[in-house]
Amino acid sequence: MREPVIAGNWKMYKTTGQAVQFAEELKAADLPGGCRVVICPPFTALHAVAGILKGSPVELGAQNMHHLEEGAFTGEVSPLMIRDAGCRYVILGHSERRQYFGETYRGVNLKVVSALEHRLVPIVCVGETLQERESGRTEEVVSRQLAGSLAGLEAGQAGRLIIAYEPVWAIGTGRTASAADAQQVNRFIRDLLAESFGRDTAQTVPILYGGSVKPDNAAELMARPDIDGALVGGASLDVGGFTAIIRAAAGY
Ligand code: PGA
Repeated sequence: MREPVIAGNWKMYKTTGQAVQFAEELKAADLPGGCRVVICPPFTALHAVAGILKGSPVELGAQNMHHLEEGAFTGEVSPLMIRDAGCRYVILGHSERRQYFGETYRGVNLKVVSALEHRLVPIVCVGETLQERESGRTEEVVSRQLAGSLAGLEAGQAGRLIIAYEPVWAIGTGRTASAADAQQVNRFIRDLLAESFGRDTAQTVPILYGGSVKPDNAAELMARPDIDGALVGGASLDVGGFTAIIRAAAGY
């Protein structure tokens, strides 16, 4: 049985003070067992939030990183730095990074390899645009993205990943993929992982769904066999909504 994972992607929201307040409230909330909970605040709040989360089962992740440990790369943050700030997870290849910051899957691949070398758990995002879905290319696109970002990995490394299927048209739009559609793509991703890394590895990798996950649609999504949790954007900014999603996931 794969333990569900609920990861909150805060994007460019919350000052340090707001992030600390959220972390204190989440720590004090009565969270159910049986669900891994990760929050991914902006870089500026990581260290302070790590301090609050000490002794709590809630874990910490970053939203991006450079693949090198240090160097003349103005504006970038390295795997050593996010580890130092208290992170165990890092979101890689989010569609907003690809859309607005020119990230490619070749670049994502370097980051995935580096994150694993630094004992970080990469949350690797894949997902098609609306145009790609409407032209029937979802599987082709997702399989190319997955092959690109996981190139060169061995089964042992792949077994330490988390994958998030995030259809671009469902992110921040209020349009969720139907649970049946999300299950179909998540299942397809698991089959691809099995082809590349073997069935045992594929069975252990949590495959999340992301894109307008809310308290009122979470349970239906989580009930599907290949949806092992959610990467939550907007609804992760509010402690009440986020804990409701965690409860929905813990029920499966
Ligand atoms: P959303 O974002 O939940 O606000 O749609 C999800 C994400 O971008 O990870």
